[in-house]
Amino acid sequence: MSRKIFNPVMIGLCALVLGACSPAGGGQSATNTVVSGEANIGGTFTLTDHEGQTVTDQTFLGKPMLIYFGFAYCPDVCPTSLQKLGAALTLSKLDPDMFHSLLITVDPERDTPEQLALYVTANGFPKGLRGLTGTQEQIDVAKKAYIAIGQKVDDPDTPGGFTYDHTNFIYLMGADGKFVDIFSGLDTPQEIAERLKTYKKTGR
Ligand code: NI
Repeated sequence: MSRKIFNPVMIGLCALVLGACSPAGGGQSATNTVVSGEANIGGTFTLTDHEGQTVTDQTFLGKPMLIYFGFAYCPDVCPTSLQKLGAALTLSKLDPDMFHSLLITVDPERDTPEQLALYVTANGFPKGLRGLTGTQEQIDVAKKAYIAIGQKVDDPDTPGGFTYDHTNFIYLMGADGKFVDIFSGLDTPQEIAERLKTYKKTGR
């Protein structure tokens, strides 16, 4: 649906990424990115889940995925978004087991499998949420595939002295691994629930 391709969130995401990555004067590539943005999100990754098992994008084929990039030390944005996704799944009345709900950390240094195992069970998070971590290189591959940004910044108030600025999106990927929809911090649980139900009904 063109609604999704020209969704302002998607255009904002592309503009943000291009702003960060491209040399000056990228007008033409910006246009191309918006047009093809729908197909450009997603790809291969190899990570470790919160039970210590190696998983890849292939592991999750067969069920749609709901993917969020964040980290356990995030004080507010990540818990708010993960609780919102949990609320949306409840509101949709869909079986949460219909989806793989995945949190991919942008902070592999602190988010060990053990740390994520504790975090994913937090109150209000999606049922069955799986935390995924890896080496910095593996995380960078996953971030690149999903055009997600996790920028390490100094923060003396946080253990370790750093935090992350990061993109705040929930990606809905189909059971075939292909991009379907993206939810931002602006979408309400009701809106996300409606779009999940639409996906269940129409596959889009
Ligand atoms: Ni966060």
